[in-house]
Amino acid sequence: MATSTNLFEQIALDLQVHGVSIQSLDLNEPALLTLTERLAHLSQQDFYKAGIGRQEEHMKNSQIRRDKIHWLDTNNAQEALFLSYMQDLKIYLNRRLFLGLFSYECHFAHYEPGAFYKKHLDAFKGETNRILSTVLYLNPDWQSSDGGELALYDPNDHSKVLQIVTPNFGTLVTFLSDEFPHEVLPAKKARYSIAGWFRVNTSVGGHIDPPQ
Ligand code: OGA
Ligand code: MN
Repeated sequence: MATSTNLFEQIALDLQVHGVSIQSLDLNEPALLTLTERLAHLSQQDFYKAGIGRQEEHMKNSQIRRDKIHWLDTNNAQEALFLSYMQDLKIYLNRRLFLGLFSYECHFAHYEPGAFYKKHLDAFKGETNRILSTVLYLNPDWQSSDGGELALYDPNDHSKVLQIVTPNFGTLVTFLSDEFPHEVLPAKKARYSIAGWFRVNTSVGGHIDPPQ
């Protein structure tokens, strides 16, 4: 974890001050480079329409989102490397910010040309154990004319754009899940990201929460 400590500290500081962080991973980070290899070996059949098969009924509507997703799993060595990197980030943030983060789950998302994800919150106060959202971008040479930006909105004024993020390879956005509305603007070419969530453990009496 030594080489990523500076980045993790920067993310902790950003979250402490702003509740949102936009940073770039080291472009030679093995966990990042491995994702490119993994993505190259995933086929269309490995992706399915987002919102199906999980308890996210409110998100099923294709008027709201049009991405296709593939959940990462430790059974795949390449996916496991990234999951382990994010475990290191979890441990770091817990030490620094006492967040009590318990688990991390994430999926690749493929936005075909024209696909979008309308403005939404990843969590609703008191209704979820999602604490921190992360989005990592995997698109080399993304041009501003390619669209597909992430728009982050002001927690205190959901109509005010705080920041527009270009989905460039290695950019990692981290933010408080129940605070920041955000939106994926229509992309003009295939756009790849990994969206993930750190959760707290709200299991009671041997019943494991969260549901996957
Ligand atoms: C999400 C999401 C943003 C992105 O999957 O919840 O907001 O830029 N993704 O891919
Ligand atoms: Mn989201």
